[in-house]
Amino acid sequence: MTNALEQLLREITSQPALENDFYRRWMSESIRIEELEIFARNYGAWVKSFPDALATLIAATDDLDAKGEYVKTLYSEMGYGNPRKAHSVLLDDFFKELARKLGEGGRLNRDRLERDVELLSSTRELIEGERELYGDAQMSFGAQLALEWQAYTMLRKLYDGARNYLPLWSNPDEFHEACEYFYTHIGAAEKDHKEESLNAVRRYARDEESLARIVEGYHRHLKLISDFWQGLYRAVTELAAKSSAATGEA
Ligand SMILES: [Fe+2]
Repeated sequence: MTNALEQLLREITSQPALENDFYRRWMSESIRIEELEIFARNYGAWVKSFPDALATLIAATDDLDAKGEYVKTLYSEMGYGNPRKAHSVLLDDFFKELARKLGEGGRLNRDRLERDVELLSSTRELIEGERELYGDAQMSFGAQLALEWQAYTMLRKLYDGARNYLPLWSNPDEFHEACEYFYTHIGAAEKDHKEESLNAVRRYARDEESLARIVEGYHRHLKLISDFWQGLYRAVTELAAKSSAATGEA
């Protein structure tokens, strides 16, 4: 029954959610502080909203084993109970350090970005759409499967791009300390979550109909994620075009 899903998962890395212009740009060069603001504002909002989406998923799931798997994922997202290690906080710490190294201390702080930088509509759609999918007793299994299976590649690519800034740190050890957000994901966490989400699906895909709903949730979530990266790429590219036009005029 789950063969169709396993086939989808094998092909996930070539999906536009995982292979897109934003990642290409992010990995190929260091982007400027104005562009980083858009990235940090939007990606930061998604990361911060994720535990709440997981809570919806847990509430919508009847199956006790699946519920337990999702609880483990949520617990790890929240830093195993240590608020300073919650993933959104680790991400904030990275941006805080990066801004400081760029000589722009405070500029990528979450409070400031939430106040001054508008959220893109594609980000809002991802956050709301994700929560909606996670609230659906069947589609949620596929939606969570998509999220967890794209996450390792996403974090690996974001980390690869973050390394473009490594020369800003005079002490490379401190760069790695600032990268804790990435390391917790490309270490054990995401590998475990992949298995946990697949275990949940294996138990749940009992007939053709439930499998079809799971696959639908999977595709819908990937589409939201793909649109999110595309929206981010467009916003960052438009900003770069605007500022080079302004420099040209001056
Ligand atoms: Fe995370």
